Amino acid sequence: MSAKLQKDIIILAIESSCDDTAAAIICNGKILANKVASQNIHELYGGVVPELASRAHQQNIVPVVEIALKEANISLKDLSAIAFTKGPGLIGSLMVGCSFAKSLALSLTIPLIGIHHMEAHVLAHFIDDPKPGFPFLCLTVSGGHTQIVKMNDYFSFEILGKTIDDAAGEAFDKAAKILGLPYPGGPLVDQYAQSGNPDKFKFPQPQIPELGFSFSGLKTSFLYFIQKQEKENPNFIEENLADLCASIQKAIILHLMKKIIKASVQTEIKEIALAGGVSANSALRKTIIEEGAKNNWLTYIPAFEYCTDNAAMVAMAAHFKYLLKEFEPITTAPFAR
Ligand SMILES: Nc1ncnc2c1ncn2[C@@H]1O[C@H](COP(=O)(O)OP(=O)(O)OP(=O)(O)O)[C@@H](O)[C@H]1O
Ligand SMILES: [Mg+2]
Repeated sequence: MSAKLQKDIIILAIESSCDDTAAAIICNGKILANKVASQNIHELYGGVVPELASRAHQQNIVPVVEIALKEANISLKDLSAIAFTKGPGLIGSLMVGCSFAKSLALSLTIPLIGIHHMEAHVLAHFIDDPKPGFPFLCLTVSGGHTQIVKMNDYFSFEILGKTIDDAAGEAFDKAAKILGLPYPGGPLVDQYAQSGNPDKFKFPQPQIPELGFSFSGLKTSFLYFIQKQEKENPNFIEENLADLCASIQKAIILHLMKKIIKASVQTEIKEIALAGGVSANSALRKTIIEEGAKNNWLTYIPAFEYCTDNAAMVAMAAHFKYLLKEFEPITTAPFAR
């Protein structure tokens, strides 16, 4: 599509807030390419090492953008704007995406669009059909956040409740670490849990008022329980891995579900969406659909490729910002909120 029609809105979006270097192309609100380069180096350290993440973004960003442009059959001169994630995230990682986007926007003399990472996770729901109608509630569960937001419009983002300590993704990853599983452990807990008994072990539910969340107590009780059992049986984890994964997963999901049900009752909103990396969890997806059927919700679950960090969600948000002509000053800096 090198001879661009004047009317086409074609945006290159960059996501680099943590340890995935991602690029996507969107044309008139339709995703043409969505590419991610993941950084396996962090597995060695059991978590993301910010310095290494920034260096890997520097190496990956040009190839990922080139692959996305090629797949979309778009050349640089076709682009209407460049979008990037401006936060929250690791500052060094954000700086790579921000500097790249600014340089390209400057050289092509086209607008720059800054996107909030958590808004992008929610706006991923507008990529495919069916799309939620406003107002809707979104349970956003990721590696760094656990929130219930009320979306009144594309960029009217009202946080009704959030975690007071760990995020749901961290709870999955920390439980996995206790079980000796590699980072990031969330997907592995999901996998092992599929052949386990979720009622074999009981862990205390967090008692947090209103729409708040807490996962640190759950993690500690899981740790103490395992340590106690291992004193009596050194093979305890090995012999019970699937049941342990299923049981801790059930406790995390129960806490999430209690709060989204409460939020729906309080706001009388029955359009309920799920977003963020933990929305890839198979049991959470199944539970929210079942709960939705009981409560007459219209339930929205993102496609797997739009759950964890990706640039398609940034591109979708950028498309809406472009229509509003909300551009970022070229002097902007990324922020880490
Ligand atoms: N199937 C799964 N089951 C449970 N957790 C999962 C699954 N897939 C991914 N996760 C978890 O999702 C998290 C990553 O999600 P995401 O990429 O949205 O987080 P992040 O971008 O690091 O954090 P944030 O979006 O809050 O800045 C990790 O904690 C990972 O373990
Ligand atoms: Mg994320």
